[in-house]
Amino acid sequence: MSVGTRLAIFLAVPLVLVMALFGYIDQRNSGALLQDELAREGRAMARMVQIAMEDALRDRQIEDVRALVDQVTGYERVLGVRIFDPTGLVIYQPADLTTYPPADALALRAALRQGAPSEIRNRLEHQPVLSFIVPLRDPKGAIVGALQLMQLESYVEEDARASRHEIYTLTFLMILVTTVIVFWVIRISVARPVAELAGSFREVGSGELRSRVPVRRRDEFGRLAQAFNGMLERLEASQHSLLAEQEERRRMESRLRHAERLASVGRLASGLAHEIGTPLNVIGGRAERLMRSLPDGTPAARSLRVISTQIDRIARIVRDMLDFARMREPRLTRTGVAPVLGKVLDFMSHRFEEGRVRLDTDLSDAPATVTADPDQLHQVFLNLCTNALDAMPDGGTLRVATSRMEKQPPEKNSGTRRCVAVTFEDTGIGIAAENLDHVFDPFFTTKGIGRGTGLGLSVSYGIIREHGGWIDIDSAPGRGTRLTVYLPESRPEATAAPRVVAS
Ligand SMILES: Nc1ncnc2c1ncn2[C@@H]1O[C@H](COP(=O)(O)OP(=O)(O)OP(=O)(O)O)[C@@H](O)[C@H]1O
Ligand SMILES: [Mg+2]
Repeated sequence: MSVGTRLAIFLAVPLVLVMALFGYIDQRNSGALLQDELAREGRAMARMVQIAMEDALRDRQIEDVRALVDQVTGYERVLGVRIFDPTGLVIYQPADLTTYPPADALALRAALRQGAPSEIRNRLEHQPVLSFIVPLRDPKGAIVGALQLMQLESYVEEDARASRHEIYTLTFLMILVTTVIVFWVIRISVARPVAELAGSFREVGSGELRSRVPVRRRDEFGRLAQAFNGMLERLEASQHSLLAEQEERRRMESRLRHAERLASVGRLASGLAHEIGTPLNVIGGRAERLMRSLPDGTPAARSLRVISTQIDRIARIVRDMLDFARMREPRLTRTGVAPVLGKVLDFMSHRFEEGRVRLDTDLSDAPATVTADPDQLHQVFLNLCTNALDAMPDGGTLRVATSRMEKQPPEKNSGTRRCVAVTFEDTGIGIAAENLDHVFDPFFTTKGIGRGTGLGLSVSYGIIREHGGWIDIDSAPGRGTRLTVYLPESRPEATAAPRVVAS
């Protein structure tokens, strides 16, 4: 049984009992009142008949006495009248009363001897009868007889029944209305708020922390709902921060893995580059010398040119590897982003034309300066442009834009920083979701053998991190790719003493 129902029963039952008791008492009182009224009426009637009878007896008008008795009998609630002589014998009574039991002997004697009137209640054929016995006196005051007036109480029974019925109906209605009000009030003020709270508890229990209890009133339930909602808000906030922390940890771990991979590949690459670099220089030098000693156009000279081109290619890969392995520290200087970008785009313009790539530049924040190694920035921008070009084999648009903004670095708990953002947005093939996490990994490439080493983004990422910046990537297959390089903007005083690192 719910708390609301139990409370309603606890309240309603005593109320109902009290009302029923009051109804019963009221009904009893009204019954007694009717009885009293009947007795008063009977008494008055007996007195009137007594006076009239004494007058008639004084004048010895026996016929009048009889007529009076007959007239009074059956009037209103009077059952009948009997007249007694001084010895207690019935002088006259209506014919109907002859079969009725005689008058109470004691009361009759008291009336005849002491002139004391009496009221007696007895039963006649199961019906209660009220008898009034009064003495009859002559003008001198001597008792000359007595008079018995009988009233049937059943005459008031009907009135009593009607009044009882009215009281019972009223009591029943009051009980009904009170019970309905009690149940309704308890339902509104207890059962509903409790049900709402219970519903919210259930939802929260099933993990739905966004659920809230409606605050409808300012009473205890309202305050409870407010406190519960406050607790949910705090719980939700701590769950969010927990999720954010987990996400941050996941990203840190992935960055750490990336850094570890970079370090191990870097060690391998630097060793390899060193080992390959020296013989490669020797082979390249010899090939050049041989080529110069041979006349142009001969098959041997052509082969030597192919050899020389391939050696250049290997040399470029070795250079990338060395960069990747951080063989060269950045030479930091106050650098304008726009000039470096301009040089790269100029250098690439021929290849863009060939690849039917339309260039759309927005260098509105061109005066942006950063503290950076211009050569390394050049390399990063070149890598990003090359990737965009490769991603648009059928042509497209490359949008390059610079802007300055307040931006929060990806590291947790770091405040916002004044940054220069350089965006490269192409309309190329885009990157599949499963590859998006790997594009910055060294040697990750989707390009065919001999076409990509998979070092471009990895090297670029390393350079930008070294400059205190970061790279954001946003891509979807078929929609294109947007890579944004964020670099800390150099403050005016930074021009005074740029940090220059020797190689
Ligand atoms: N703008 C781009 N659009 C689509 N895919 C891209 C883009 N930039 C990078 N990628 C994907 O990321 C991979 C890695 O790029 P990254 O520059 O590191 O290597 P690469 O271009 O394959 O080789 P390389 O060492 O010659 O640059 C690419 O192979 C390509 O799949
Ligand atoms: Mg590349």
